[in-house]
Amino acid sequence: MNRRDFIQKTSLAATVTGILPKVQAPTQKPASRVRLGFIGVGLRGQSHLQQALYRKDVDVTAICDIDPSAVNTARKMITQAGKKEPAVYAKGPEDFANMVKRDDLDGVIIATPWEWHVPMTIATMKAGKYAAVEVSATVTLQESWDLVDTFEQTGSHCMILENVCYRRDVMAIMNMVRQGIFGEMLYAHCGYQHDLRGIKLNNGKSNALGVEFGEKGYSEAKWRTQHSVDRNGDIYPTHGLGPVAHWLDINRGNRMMYLTSMSTKSRGLHKYIVDHGGQNHPNAKVKFALGDIVTTNIQCHNGENIVLVHDTNSPRPYSLGFRAQGTEGIWMNDGHTIYLEGISPKEHIAEPDAAYLAKYDHPLWKKYEKEAENAGHGGIDYFIFRGFVEAIKNKVAPPIDVYDAAAWSAVSPLSELSISRGSSPVEIPDFTRGKWRSNKRIFGLNDEY
Ligand SMILES: NC(=O)c1ccc[n+]([C@@H]2O[C@H](COP(=O)([O-])OP(=O)(O)OC[C@H]3O[C@@H](n4cnc5c(N)ncnc54)[C@H](O)[C@@H]3O)[C@@H](O)[C@H]2O)c1
Repeated sequence: MNRRDFIQKTSLAATVTGILPKVQAPTQKPASRVRLGFIGVGLRGQSHLQQALYRKDVDVTAICDIDPSAVNTARKMITQAGKKEPAVYAKGPEDFANMVKRDDLDGVIIATPWEWHVPMTIATMKAGKYAAVEVSATVTLQESWDLVDTFEQTGSHCMILENVCYRRDVMAIMNMVRQGIFGEMLYAHCGYQHDLRGIKLNNGKSNALGVEFGEKGYSEAKWRTQHSVDRNGDIYPTHGLGPVAHWLDINRGNRMMYLTSMSTKSRGLHKYIVDHGGQNHPNAKVKFALGDIVTTNIQCHNGENIVLVHDTNSPRPYSLGFRAQGTEGIWMNDGHTIYLEGISPKEHIAEPDAAYLAKYDHPLWKKYEKEAENAGHGGIDYFIFRGFVEAIKNKVAPPIDVYDAAAWSAVSPLSELSISRGSSPVEIPDFTRGKWRSNKRIFGLNDEY
């Protein structure tokens, strides 16, 4: 299916399901340029900004941040790339509301602390622009509903910037799942298993122990660590859940029904402080609510189970822990192995996955491998940014939409609720209000989308 057929077909499907908004105009010619604004030009915002500056079809019209050094760095990046000086909105935490009203913006990239995502996304949508919001999109259940309601009221799109959906291996596995290579899907395992102790325990210039981090300091500690103090649940679910949701057609023929979560005790962050700063360090008094390892089980409508792990406070290698299992085989990312009944040469013995990942390489990756070369996180940051830009140009729904943002992110507050109730099952709302039954796939359909 070529790009045009695809747009026409999805538009038709959209009319039937009613999920696409009034701005949908499939007969219009795609725009040749896209004008973007950025709210939050810290670590992640600058990485998206770099993608914008690489592209010939994007103009950066305005930027917004409360931190003057972030603004200066972003401004320099833009002018050093030979582009026009952007308008700057830096007059305090609400100044983004002025930026989104500009009439020279088609879309806004939001890469701010989690608690700011929804107010900024909603303001953008209400101003009639495409919103792209970083992960997780929402912190509370109500915020997930607010995103959906705002989309349905305004017709303005919201894309969650879940870049891991574009990881080359998980897209190849999605191809295999869709072609039935694993038989009928039964189970997926995934998570965010990343030792963040060094990031959580520094304040941008120095760590909690007074050690200078200089230019490389992560400002995330200014806001991210507080979530580990206040919350016990899977507070960063979408890197794992996003790809798995595409494997299992969540919100498009399937949906997540309920979950249960369990957490270990909380030791890692306190131990890190004491090990490096001693018992008398002021931060040794801080009580962290977040259990070191939080495990969530999700029951899907079509009978699959998802196990999702959040593990950020302990010494460990980085891994998103992907596993895909069906009635005819299994892929295991840790160890890079696969086993397919009747195909793998030795019974009960896994084989290396490389040849399969190459054979089922996704057409998007085949086509844009070169362009993705310079992008962060192994190339995936090129694809997520491109997905947003292409949706705006073609005036279509983004490949990962507001219902994905709402449902995937809602796992955080729901896992907190389950843990607070002794791991009892908690219902996952149907944010599509029944449309998941007839919604068609929109992600990774061909070499364009
Ligand atoms: N997808 C990924 O791979 C990935 C990687 C890193 C971070 N992230 C996400 O990106 C977001 C930002 O993370 P980061 O690492 O860039 O953090 P950061 O602290 O480096 O950047 C956040 C920026 O937002 C600014 N900000 C805060 N409040 C603001 C307000 N009211 N108005 C304007 N600007 C404001 C801060 O000054 C800062 O510059 C988070 O949601 C994080 O989860 C995603």
